[in-house]
Amino acid sequence: PFMTTLDRRSGLALKLQRQYNLQGCHIIRGDADEDPELQQELSQLMAEEFQKMIFDNAIISVAGGSTMANVSQYLKPAEENLLFVSARGGLGEEVGNQANSIASRLAKATGGEHRVLYAPDSVGDSVYESLKDEPSIKEITELNRRSDYVMHGIGEAFMMARRRNVEAAALSQLEADCAVGETFGYYFNAEGDIVRKVKTIGIQLEDLASKKAIFAVAGGSSKKEAVRAYMKMAPKNTILFIDEAIGEFLLKND
Ligand code: F6P
Repeated sequence: PFMTTLDRRSGLALKLQRQYNLQGCHIIRGDADEDPELQQELSQLMAEEFQKMIFDNAIISVAGGSTMANVSQYLKPAEENLLFVSARGGLGEEVGNQANSIASRLAKATGGEHRVLYAPDSVGDSVYESLKDEPSIKEITELNRRSDYVMHGIGEAFMMARRRNVEAAALSQLEADCAVGETFGYYFNAEGDIVRKVKTIGIQLEDLASKKAIFAVAGGSSKKEAVRAYMKMAPKNTILFIDEAIGEFLLKND
C-alpha cells in the first residue's frame, strides 16, 4: 500500500546489491543528468558513507572526475589519521578534476595527509619503464597497491575520450570496439570486456580485489550503459553509488 520514495529507493538498492553481489549499493533520487543539484547529492551520499567507514591509518586511493571533485565539500574533519593517495597521474583533464587535486582536497577536509603522483597518466613504454623505478613514483605505486579503500567515478566511454582529447585514430578504434564505459583508464564494452587500456603508472585493475571496499560513483542516464557494463567486471567489494535513472535501468537490463 503506502510506500515512501525513500523506501522504494532503498528497496531498489537492496535488489541491485543482491543482483550483482555487491558489498553495498546506495541510490539518490532522479536523473543526475537533468539537475546539477543531484550530482551534488550523489557526491554527498558517497562522502557520508565513506565517513562512516573511516578507521585510523586508513589509506585511500582516489581517482579523478567531476563527481569525485565534489566529495570533499561534504567531508568533516576526522579524528583518525588518513592518507589519500592519487590513483592516477595527470590526465589532460581540467586541473580541479584530476586525482592529484582531489586527493589534496579530501585530505584538507578530513585533516588527513595526501600524496600525489607527479607524472602524466598516460605514458609510452620507454617512459613507463624509466618512471616506474623512480623512488617518488614507486612510493605511490606501493601505496596504491596496499591501500584500504579506492574511490572512483565511472564515465561514458566517448565522453571520457573526448574530454581527454584522445586522438582520432584511437577514437575510431573505440567506436569499432563498441566501447561504452571507462574507469581508471580502462575502456570496456557492454560485456564488460576491456577494449583499451591506457598505459599508466597509476592503480591497476588487479589492485582492486584486495581492497576493503571500493567506492564507485556514477550518476545520470547518459552513464547507464557504462555502469551496467562495469557491473560485469566490478569486484565484489564494490559499493555502488548511483541515481534512480541508472538503478531502474540496471534492474530491468541485467
Ligand atoms: O578521469 C578520471 C575518471 O575517474 C575516469 O576514470 C572516469 O570515467 C571519470 O573520471 C568520471 O568522471 P565524471 O565523474 O566527471 O563523469
